[in-house]
Amino acid sequence: MFGARCLLRALRSCTSAPCPRHKPSARLSVRDALGARSTNGERVKVQGWIRSVRSQKEVLFLHINDGSSLESLQVVADSSFDSRELAFGSSVEVQGQLVKSPSKKQNVELKAEKIEIVGNCDAKDSGFVHIHTPIITSNDCEGAGELFQVEPSSKIKVPEENFFNVPAFLTVSGQLHLEVMSGAFTQVFTFGPTFRAENSQSRRHLAEFYMVEAEISFVESLQDLMQVMEGLFKTATMMVLSNCTEDVELCHKFIAPGQKDRLEHMLKNNFLIISYTEAVEILKKASQNFTFTPEWGVDLHTEHEKYLVKHCGNIPVFVINYPLALKPFYMRDNEDGPQHTVAAVDLLVPGVGELFGGSLREERYHFLEQRLARSGLTEAYQWYLDLRRFGSVPHGGFGMGFERYLQCILGIDNIKDVIPFPRFTHSCVL
Ligand code: 4AD
Ligand code: MG
Repeated sequence: MFGARCLLRALRSCTSAPCPRHKPSARLSVRDALGARSTNGERVKVQGWIRSVRSQKEVLFLHINDGSSLESLQVVADSSFDSRELAFGSSVEVQGQLVKSPSKKQNVELKAEKIEIVGNCDAKDSGFVHIHTPIITSNDCEGAGELFQVEPSSKIKVPEENFFNVPAFLTVSGQLHLEVMSGAFTQVFTFGPTFRAENSQSRRHLAEFYMVEAEISFVESLQDLMQVMEGLFKTATMMVLSNCTEDVELCHKFIAPGQKDRLEHMLKNNFLIISYTEAVEILKKASQNFTFTPEWGVDLHTEHEKYLVKHCGNIPVFVINYPLALKPFYMRDNEDGPQHTVAAVDLLVPGVGELFGGSLREERYHFLEQRLARSGLTEAYQWYLDLRRFGSVPHGGFGMGFERYLQCILGIDNIKDVIPFPRFTHSCVL
């Protein structure tokens, strides 16, 4: 702030004698630019993130903010500056003249002479805003109790029982935080580390893995959600194939011969959709002997998932509408029966089984209230229930395990081979 004030002072003294054109522009924070008293066309430089873009026939309006003020600075530019990169979330450096604004909404505005993109915001390309959800949390989103608890290693510094006053854990999913943010930004995503204390030594489970999660407001059907999931899988895979060709080919050649064709087969076909009930019927008719006998109301195991994908011609398959009793409290009740289901969706892929898990969320207050009460969660999830009291909208989302995604596209059998430092039961080397 002190530096900014000095700059502002320098700027003010500059106004009595116009700055020569070649003099470098003074850098101002948005706050200082908004508070500038004299606006006789000083040349300034402001850096920040684009909060809104309004493009008119001859003029382009941007609002930029650098966190120094709640209010954003209006930038007015010639429409020739308009470009795809000038989008919500991109960081920019704008040089120009600080002038009195003709509008009553703000005192000053910045007449742009030069706009430089510092960093693109790709998230805007598909309309999703990137949210950093917390790693330490007090919720167990999946309700499976597979939590690692977080506590200070020494009780001496914090004599109270809990550092955070409530039990805290490493996150199993950023979903509930994303649901809060989707109420502000409509479409949001996060990509971060996720932790599960699953006592599993399997080829597709880790105690620490990365997950891409998305949450979308105003989604009313699983169909719409599945379209986004399929789009994400196909777009990401095509980008990996074209940007990392050599690495992928190396894996395909030496580790998973034939994987290239298998992947192309997945990319060029529309993913299939079957219901959980249909899946159980298929499994019951299978000639294969399963370790776990398939039965309605019992979760699908990896062996079942792999069989289903094979049965579907090795094309990824969405399995939808799972039994209510198997799924967490947040999934939307399908109000069917006697086999009661929720609007859940898993995407099963060749070689791995479940790659995505998602659902429509229960947005109806009374339904959610009852589900929480039945699980004894009413008190802990009051804030979550409140989201349904104030402007609730139908919404849904999903999560995709990143290491399983790598397994799937590279054709790697064991999840521990796609991560340099795998963490799993009885193993936390280094
Ligand atoms: O199906 P899951 O448990 O879904 C959720 O956590 C939702 N809350 C996501 C959401 O809707 N925002 O996990 C999502 C995906 C799985 O499909 C799988 O790919 C991966 O995360 N995953 C694991 N990957 C590696 N090791 C584990 N132990 C995993 N558990 C889940
Ligand atoms: Mg799942």
